[in-house]
Amino acid sequence: MTETLLRSRLLTFHREPMNGDDGDAYTYLEDGAVLIRDGVIQKTGTFSDVIANTPNAAVTDHRPHLMMAGFIDTHIHFPQVQVIASWGSQLLDWLNNYTFPEETRFADPDHCAAMATKFHDQLIANGTTSAVAYCSVHKSSVDAFFTEAASRNMRMLGGKVLMDRNAPDGLRDTPQSGYDDTKALIAGWHGKGRVGYVITPRFAITSTPEQMEMAQALAAEHPECHIQTHLSENKDEIAFTKELYPEARDYLDVYQSYGLLSGKTLLGHSIHLEAREIDALAETGAHPVFCPTSNFFLGSGLFDDTGLRDRGITNGIATDVGAGTSYSMLQTLNEGYKVLQLQGQSLHPLQAFHWATRGNACVLGLEDKIGTLDAGTEADIVVLNSHSTEAMALRMERAQSLSEELFILQIMGDDRAVEEVYVSGVASKRKAAA
Ligand code: GUN
Ligand code: ZN
Repeated sequence: MTETLLRSRLLTFHREPMNGDDGDAYTYLEDGAVLIRDGVIQKTGTFSDVIANTPNAAVTDHRPHLMMAGFIDTHIHFPQVQVIASWGSQLLDWLNNYTFPEETRFADPDHCAAMATKFHDQLIANGTTSAVAYCSVHKSSVDAFFTEAASRNMRMLGGKVLMDRNAPDGLRDTPQSGYDDTKALIAGWHGKGRVGYVITPRFAITSTPEQMEMAQALAAEHPECHIQTHLSENKDEIAFTKELYPEARDYLDVYQSYGLLSGKTLLGHSIHLEAREIDALAETGAHPVFCPTSNFFLGSGLFDDTGLRDRGITNGIATDVGAGTSYSMLQTLNEGYKVLQLQGQSLHPLQAFHWATRGNACVLGLEDKIGTLDAGTEADIVVLNSHSTEAMALRMERAQSLSEELFILQIMGDDRAVEEVYVSGVASKRKAAA
């Protein structure tokens, strides 16, 4: 039985902070410790308390850095590792000119395997220990994605995109093949180790009504699975969707009328929403996912976080690589801060770090497993260095509080600020770099 004790400054959230003064929402310890056995956190507390009961545990001392739960990315595209930073267009042209041609390469299982390794390396380098991913239309892309996740014992969610129209040859399934492949992938992967399957109709434009019916059947047959798709990212996308589904009351109604909305549904972007759509989100418990770097990059629009939260809707936050421009959840929080600033909304750093950890875990209904340093949860942990660049160290000379330090990490930090990452209790970043 191996017991590891990590010693460091420590931050963990118990609920979402209402504001910057909401000290009951989190625990911050100057000399904290986490005791890990078999990949699970056994105890979290002050170093002196934790060591008192386990004098023989192997101690790794990460002071003066800051330890917290690993980051969770609730929307990212695995086959887009070589699409990120593609110039010059908005959503539909970007998909047709760059993204779809690239995704056709994932018909090749060797390419899938190579990219799956690189993709997970990027997540770990950036402190992301769990993600919800879109794979390509090809079954082989999902096999490679989950094989890599399982070999690292990571809690990862993902699924094959269902897409049977408005996409090039080699990138379309059929309603029946999409259904059959999804059934086989759920049977083969869902609940195996730490991975989970996500039913993934890509978006309304690339699925016929017949395919949406199949997605509805999959959702009804597999209530244990999450569902993910895209919603109201771009005005041309919305107009085309309304042409393709003239009966739908609005864009969201396409998904709603096929029974795809529940608390397990993740709706990437959700920017240009009508009043009825917001009502339907509130009623069904489906989760919009804010993708700030992507929304800036594609010129898509501004996500109204406060407007949705005021209706009791719980939003995720995510990178959306490859329209997103960074794998870093720190950089995602940085750009998120700016999107909200443009609308007079101020994202406090305590709320930001809660969002990227426990907040996203709650969106996934996984807060009993990931997103905190609570005893009994899985030991996915990030160690952050707020002095990782000279510019940050200089700014830190004036920082006088935890909130200031967090904000510096949020605005100036990236993969260089991620000192170490533990996945199921195993140190995974420095080992990979070596
Ligand atoms: N809508 C449908 N597919 C995609 C995608 O791959 N990226 C983004 N940003 N939006 C989409
Ligand atoms: Zn996306």
